[in-house]
Amino acid sequence: MPRIKVIGVGPGSEDYLTPAARKALDAASAVVGGERHIRQMAAPWQKTFILKSNLGEALEFIRLHREAGVAVLASGDPGMYGILKYLRRHFRREDLEVIPGVSAVQLAFARLAVPWEDARILSAHGRKVEGAFLAEAVRTSPKVAILTDPRCPPASIARMLAANGLAAQRIYCCCNLSYPDECVVETSARELLEKQIDLPPNCVVVILNEG
Ligand SMILES: C[S@@+](CC[C@H](N)C(=O)[O-])C[C@H]1O[C@@H](n2cnc3c(N)ncnc32)[C@H](O)[C@@H]1O
Repeated sequence: MPRIKVIGVGPGSEDYLTPAARKALDAASAVVGGERHIRQMAAPWQKTFILKSNLGEALEFIRLHREAGVAVLASGDPGMYGILKYLRRHFRREDLEVIPGVSAVQLAFARLAVPWEDARILSAHGRKVEGAFLAEAVRTSPKVAILTDPRCPPASIARMLAANGLAAQRIYCCCNLSYPDECVVETSARELLEKQIDLPPNCVVVILNEG
């Protein structure tokens, strides 16, 4: 039985889609992924399944098409707060071939020209992050990166920091990375809130304790 290809497609732009990812994607006869990725990357002849909160149905689709060759697309790297965790609950290691991708976190630190092996990486994507927990991470880690969510955009991160005594904290909001409207905004939690700086929710908020 062929292995299920779990493909990291990078932060968005095809410039960051690796040749290995492209090759694996082109070889698949069926593709599972978010709507944007399917629209942008799947070929018209490939059978597709659009991921929403229908993970159970996605598993059925994967099992049905595995023999013919199925690929699951994941933004960034599948192992960084991605779909790999869910797939490993349902498939054995030997059932999966993971093709790594460039994570949004990697690209955020690259944009800031900062090494990140000592970074703490948190996610507010589809999960709740407590303000006190976030503040503790910021106080105890040299670097923190936080993945945001439409329900927890950079302003919500700033609000949590401000509510936990970190209003003056410098933050770097790295938004829509690799897309034409990419922006990296350096500000403080207080300034972001006071000036109501409007930032897209597709963002990695980076905090550096540079002292
Ligand atoms: C479900 S997580 C997936 C992370 C992904 N596995 C990775 O390695 O980048 C989605 C979150 O990643 C961040 N993200 C993904 N693409 C991004 C981009 N192009 N620019 C900024 N942040 C991005 C956002 O915080 C988004 O809410």
